[in-house]
Amino acid sequence: MTINPGMDHVESMLSRRSNKLVQAPGPDAGQIKLMLQTAVCAPDHSALRAWRFAMIEQAEIAAFTDLAIAATRRWGREITAQKEQNTRNWMSKVPLLIGLAYKISHDNSKVPEIEQTLSMGAAVMNIQNAAHAMGFASYWSTGLGSYTEEVPEALGFDSLDYRFVGFLAVGTPIHPTTPAQRPDPMTMTHVWKPK
Ligand SMILES: Cc1cc2nc3c(=O)[nH]c(=O)nc-3n(C[C@H](O)[C@H](O)[C@H](O)COP(=O)(O)O)c2cc1C
Repeated sequence: MTINPGMDHVESMLSRRSNKLVQAPGPDAGQIKLMLQTAVCAPDHSALRAWRFAMIEQAEIAAFTDLAIAATRRWGREITAQKEQNTRNWMSKVPLLIGLAYKISHDNSKVPEIEQTLSMGAAVMNIQNAAHAMGFASYWSTGLGSYTEEVPEALGFDSLDYRFVGFLAVGTPIHPTTPAQRPDPMTMTHVWKPK
C-alpha cells in the first residue's frame, strides 16, 4: 500500500478530482480494506453503522452492466444505442465498482434521515479521499439504474430497508487527472455577528 509520497493530508484533499475513466490496476484487497476502514470513520450520530457497500469486481462488471441497462429500460428510461455503447465501453475498463447504500433507520426520533444521508455521504467522501491518497481515481455516479428498484435490489438493497446512493468506480486514471477549478469558499461564507 502506498500513500502518495510528499503529499500531506490537506494537500491530498485539495488535489483530489473525480475521474470517470479508470482502468486496471485497481486497488488490491488490502487497499480496498483500508478504503472501507476510512468509510466507517465517518461521523455517525447514535452509531447507527448504517453504511453498506456492494463490491462488484472486474470479472462481474459486464454482467452487472447488462443487468443495469436492462433494468433502466424496464423502468421506462430511454437508453439510446450510443449511450449503451458508451456505458459498456466505460464499464469494460473499470476494475472496481462499489454499490453504495445505507440501511434506513426508520422513524428515528434522534437521527432524522437527513443525518443518515449525510453520514453516508461523508463515508463515500472518505473513500474518495483515501483512493486518491493511494494514487487511484474514483467517480461517484447515480447512473447505472441507481434510482430503479431493481438494481439496488439485485445488489442486496431492497428499497424498504435501504437507501441506494449510487456507485463509485475506482481505478487508475486512463488520462492524467488535471487540476480542477475550485470556487473561492469565501464567496460562500459569512461571519455572523449578533444583532
Ligand atoms: C451523489 C452524487 C451523485 C453523482 N452522480 C453523477 C452522475 O450520475 N453523473 C455525473 O456525471 N456526475 C455525477 N456526480 C458528480 C461527480 O461524481 C463529480 O463529483 C463531479 O464530476 C465533480 O468532480 P469533482 O469531484 O472533481 O469535483 C455525482 C456526485 C454526487 C455527490
